[in-house]
Amino acid sequence: MVERVSTGITGLDETLGGGYPKGRNVLLIGSAGTGKTTFALQFIHDGAKRGEKVAYLSLEQKVDELKKDVKTVGLDFTEFEKKKLVTFYDQSFAKEAEGPDVGDLAELPGKYAFNADKKSKTAVVQSAYEQIFKKAKADGVSRFVVDSIPALAANIIPSIEFENEIKMRTVLRKILIKMCNQMKECGFTSIFIAEAKGDDESDEFGIASYVTDGVIILKVNPALDTRIMAVKKMRATSHSTKPQSFAFTREGIVVNIPKKTQI
Ligand SMILES: Nc1ncnc2c1ncn2[C@@H]1O[C@H](COP(=O)(O)OP(=O)(O)OP(=O)(O)O)[C@@H](O)[C@H]1O
Ligand SMILES: [Mg+2]
Repeated sequence: MVERVSTGITGLDETLGGGYPKGRNVLLIGSAGTGKTTFALQFIHDGAKRGEKVAYLSLEQKVDELKKDVKTVGLDFTEFEKKKLVTFYDQSFAKEAEGPDVGDLAELPGKYAFNADKKSKTAVVQSAYEQIFKKAKADGVSRFVVDSIPALAANIIPSIEFENEIKMRTVLRKILIKMCNQMKECGFTSIFIAEAKGDDESDEFGIASYVTDGVIILKVNPALDTRIMAVKKMRATSHSTKPQSFAFTREGIVVNIPKKTQI
């Protein structure tokens, strides 16, 4: 029997036979504003509520802003931060643009070297992320979110290093496989966030969905003013692939609820 970890999303655990498979990684794919960040924050909020230690690596949006945003759907991290149950790693590009303050990475061995020569940058940054995972493991973290893969890719592999897209994709695949395995070795149940491309069901680079253990698609239907999610893949799990409606409520995202309870 595969152990399960609650998703924190009301209605989704039932679809997945109890939750995400413990110690595995899940990819959330969605186009802009489909609810990916909220979905993932709800996962770590649920962990902290259960007394677990959780971590969130934000490579896009500033953490202070994220925390403010999700308060509007009832997700408040203030108490969990006081109890040191949650760690936010703020590596948003906004922060990088501000100058040399690189947050927690700066305290790690082999500092996050913005000045590293271009050839070694991939390796340096990759090892900096590995250090974050190891630190989180040492802190006892059980749930870990990376938001997002495109930002991570942009950070790790400056295109200048590659003569063509095939080489870049090969390197990205290797990095993602390595990262997924590092997460597993650390014992985290993790969520990676990816942007949708084309059919709205594939990730931008078309790699992450093959590399991760599970894939959940988030979509909006503007004409019907509805949101849907579908479990495209979840290894070791018998699940429906049927799209299910979801909505934002004052208790976070809820799957399959009547429209009148939405906010
Ligand atoms: N309090 C709220 N009530 C209703 N809907 C909300 C609320 N907060 C957020 N939303 C909806 O969720 C969207 C943003 O959610 P979230 O930031 O989780 O999405 P995302 O997929 O991560 O976005 P991005 O692609 O910008 O990273 C908003 O555009 C809005 O449609
Ligand atoms: Mg987001």
